[in-house]
Amino acid sequence: RVIVTSGPTHEPIDPVRYIANRSSGAQGTAIAKALVAQGAEVVFITGPAEVDSPQGVECVNVQTAQDMLEATKSALPADAAVFAAAVADWRVASASDRKLKKSRDGLPLLEFAENPDILHHVSTLAEERPSLVIGFAAETDDVLANATAKRARKGCDWIVANDVSPATGIMGGSENAVMLIDAEGAESWQRMPKDAVAERLAARIATFLNAKES
Ligand code: CTP
Repeated sequence: RVIVTSGPTHEPIDPVRYIANRSSGAQGTAIAKALVAQGAEVVFITGPAEVDSPQGVECVNVQTAQDMLEATKSALPADAAVFAAAVADWRVASASDRKLKKSRDGLPLLEFAENPDILHHVSTLAEERPSLVIGFAAETDDVLANATAKRARKGCDWIVANDVSPATGIMGGSENAVMLIDAEGAESWQRMPKDAVAERLAARIATFLNAKES
């Protein structure tokens, strides 16, 4: 049983506006599909993504980071968890329950609050921590150093790191060039379609879990 989070989150400003990011959900969706092909039971927890959710998974649709955390907690226990979602780090501290109006409200001043860190929460669970917790690191500079530090800070087992600088065309594109970082070090995978990255990662997850079982 594997939990996969995917897509962006939407953090409301008022009933008609939100803060989001450019994640399409393509990589997380491809990973869920590849895990199903490996025979996993997949709980797919997704924010409002551009791509359709995969077939054959238990799909939980969420909007905000807080919803995603609750859905993740409800999906435990699991053997592995893959956190591919681009979770918004901040939410508007007090979202308005009515539409902000230019005429009435003038220029809005938004105050932010920090969202819960779902990956860190699951990585540091005393009970019900999945045997394999995998995070993503979307970086624009010093990818290896930042991602290695992120693995330690988050407490996860593996980090899939990628360079999301606009010049790479990875965010929102169909290809990805990742580094897989574990306790032993880093391994660079050549640039390939997101489906191929997903298949290779799913195969590694299956190998890890099968080795653990036998
Ligand atoms: N993540 C999460 N919950 C959050 C933020 C991030 O679960 N509130 C997960 C993502 O799904 C990803 C990993 O943490 O697997 C790294 O996300 P990233 O946005 O790169 O890291 P940040 O925590 O935002 O760190 P920084 O701001 O230093 O880049």
